[in-house]
Amino acid sequence: GRASRIVVVSNRVAVPDPARRAQAGGLAVAVNAALKERGGIWFGWSGTITPTPSDHPVVTTQKRMTYAVIDLKEDDYQEYYNGFANRVLWPILHYRVDLAEFAQADLSGYIRVNRNFADHLAKIIGPDDVLWIHDYHMMPLAQYLRERGHRNRIGFFLHIPMPPPDLIQALPKHGEIVGALAYYDLVGFQTEQDKENFARYLDTRGGQSSADGRSYDVGGRRVKLGAFPVAIETAAFARRARHASRSQFVKRFKESLSGRKLIVGVDRLDYSKGIPNRLEAYERFLRNAEDWHDKVAYVQITPKSRTEVPEYAEMDRFVSRKAGQINGLYSDVSWTPLRYVNRTYSRSALAGIYRAAGVAMVTPLRDGMNLVAKEFVAAQDPEDPGVLLLSQFAGAAHELSAGALIVNPHDLDGMAEALRRALEMPLPERSDRYRRMMSVLEANDIDRWAKRFLAELTDDRALPAMSL
Ligand code: G6P
Repeated sequence: GRASRIVVVSNRVAVPDPARRAQAGGLAVAVNAALKERGGIWFGWSGTITPTPSDHPVVTTQKRMTYAVIDLKEDDYQEYYNGFANRVLWPILHYRVDLAEFAQADLSGYIRVNRNFADHLAKIIGPDDVLWIHDYHMMPLAQYLRERGHRNRIGFFLHIPMPPPDLIQALPKHGEIVGALAYYDLVGFQTEQDKENFARYLDTRGGQSSADGRSYDVGGRRVKLGAFPVAIETAAFARRARHASRSQFVKRFKESLSGRKLIVGVDRLDYSKGIPNRLEAYERFLRNAEDWHDKVAYVQITPKSRTEVPEYAEMDRFVSRKAGQINGLYSDVSWTPLRYVNRTYSRSALAGIYRAAGVAMVTPLRDGMNLVAKEFVAAQDPEDPGVLLLSQFAGAAHELSAGALIVNPHDLDGMAEALRRALEMPLPERSDRYRRMMSVLEANDIDRWAKRFLAELTDDRALPAMSL
């Protein structure tokens, strides 16, 4: 038979783009980095909507990777992507049950698209292929493949948080969606906390944990659970930042700062990212820290995201207004305290911007991991590193707490104080904190993340978790 291949499935696929359009979003970045050396097939949505999608995916091959993507119909896009994935699953899994807008038609669309994905995959996969499915768009996919008779190893990785069972139970028909994760051989989470939350959910469904506690028997199936904190290409990103800092783009950018200390924030425009809280904290900092006026510039890079979902459109209006208010209150003819930017930048440009910054504010209300936090650290100049302000509710806080200034995004005064502390932190403390974080990022880079997941999925003796 055919040799075993890795077949990755996700809604977003990082198809190499000759126009080099930047990809916003942790999943595409991480999966791309994990796969490009290893090789494999990456199947998913093209990002395009057409009235009559073809029966065959569009295939692109580059080096060891094959990308196969399909278009979606307008209804599918509205119901599956905007409706169920982004207006129901996203808020609930980010602990925002209050924002979820459930509609039966959207759930039907989600199931229909997942079944359609299973039909396409049935034509692509051989019996020895190993399938690795990503994120909340694809939760029931293994079940639909099993129903078609596929007995492949199938793993699932959730890039976003898994909340406690009480919140999962707020999802109508949660058993058919979240409960369907039991059809995978392995389900991976960003943190131990996410894994534990899911284990407790399986308890509510009559799951029995195995003697070693690593797997669950539920509904006649055995599923392994694990925590695999997603990582970055640490060494390559550090190199990229070093090179980028010599580019024309970064030189011009630095000149525009006129020697002021740079604070940076980079987030998709999403309510989970805590952007209003962060702007409010910055405003309080400006109110109290007159000595810092004209000596600091905060650049908030925020590409728009999921603009057809009403909660996102509302965020957009709120944040634009807030940014305008801050500048109206504190700007001077030759100083703009906040630059609020809605465009995307290449990864190299971002690397250079991170390296030029004295402080990064990564303060989500809830985040699966947050790779901006990790990339900011990797991009620093080891001789003069910047400081990371990191929310306790980002998955990254579980790994970076020894080096970041951990903040509670609901404590605006606390954040304003932490910002001052970060701006004024002496070099020895900055260096010490940087080194602690870098050693974690070097030990668990993206390659190790993929290796650990795939080893756990395919063999029965897996690599040990990294000790912190
Ligand atoms: C998060 C999700 C990804 C998603 C990305 C960008 O990182 O975990 O699955 O791809 O956001 O969002 P979008 O809706 O544009 O794909």
